[in-house]
Amino acid sequence: MLNSPQDWPEPIVRVQSLSETCVDSIPDTYIKPPSHRPSSSSSFTTTNIPIIDLSPLYASDPEARAATLAQILDACNDWGFFQIVNHGVSHALMDAARETWRAFFHLPMDIKQAYANSPKTYEGYGSRLGVEKGAILDWSDYYYLHYLPLCLKDYDKWPALPPSCRDVFDEYGREVVKLCGRLMKVLSLNLGLHEGFLQNAFGGEDIGACLRVNFYPKCPKPELTLGLSSHSDPGGMTLLLPDDQVPGLQVRKSGDWITVKPLPHAFIVNIGDQIQVISNARYKSVEHRVIVNSDKERVSLAFFYNPKSDIPIQPAKELVTPHTPPLYPAMTFDQYRLFIRLKGPRGKSQVESLTTTTS
Ligand code: OGA
Ligand code: NI
Repeated sequence: MLNSPQDWPEPIVRVQSLSETCVDSIPDTYIKPPSHRPSSSSSFTTTNIPIIDLSPLYASDPEARAATLAQILDACNDWGFFQIVNHGVSHALMDAARETWRAFFHLPMDIKQAYANSPKTYEGYGSRLGVEKGAILDWSDYYYLHYLPLCLKDYDKWPALPPSCRDVFDEYGREVVKLCGRLMKVLSLNLGLHEGFLQNAFGGEDIGACLRVNFYPKCPKPELTLGLSSHSDPGGMTLLLPDDQVPGLQVRKSGDWITVKPLPHAFIVNIGDQIQVISNARYKSVEHRVIVNSDKERVSLAFFYNPKSDIPIQPAKELVTPHTPPLYPAMTFDQYRLFIRLKGPRGKSQVESLTTTTS
């Protein structure tokens, strides 16, 4: 079986350090082939992903609630991505989380290097996804850590600095997990199933949750590279807290790349591959990528809400019929996530390669 190697195939270079030394060019290892560069097929548009007010989910007006569920259903069908407002998470906490992590990335390099990660678990301070020698890399550094299950939560692998980092992220994780639980209920009801359905399929109480903080330094040649290459999120559902000042996330929509205009204090929600699999493709994960720019750094917090990692994830029997046979074989999330950990971000190639029906 595939296994993760102990170490990276090439010495790690921090993109943040490159950004400080490269004034008018970038190393070849970051230059994408022309078809992957940002300018190809991104069109100027005022289109944005849907913005959905969640306050009816916290109140008791059944009609308003049904209308919100319908908006979420449409957003999932049309985009696989939406922004949520009135989501119940304190704005001050959102700002504190993002700014604390920004401060981490502005600490001296030797402090950050103490948390350098390896491809074995990816936990810690990292600068590449995937272990293929000679791969073209993305223009970003990141920090990856586990929040759940509790047996994987290890404060020693979380930064000790800034001093507030652990407390702030603990509280943030608690609030975001609650919010994800609510959204999972909505997604279940929108499949015509009982509200606990997806949570059960994810392993009930034993779900996984992890955070990737992305740091996209300024780039002198933003037209030649990407901050994060096209991918769908391998996990269940993602709650992204974007930079409030700097756009960068692009979502694929009918062959175009749409740049998301983040609304202050909104979260961006997207469906991951595991929900596509369980729902037998009633929900679809959607490709997205990140562009960088030459005058502003960008920080984002991607919170991944995932199934328990060692149980089989497969199309739910409730959604399999003679007309809709199962599209995917059963696989644990531990197995599934090896692909991106070995190969790096590759569009939707993984989930698409699993489709079992042939025509
Ligand atoms: C991710 C991701 C988008 C962003 O971390 O998976 O898609 O805007 N991030 O940083
Ligand atoms: Ni993503």
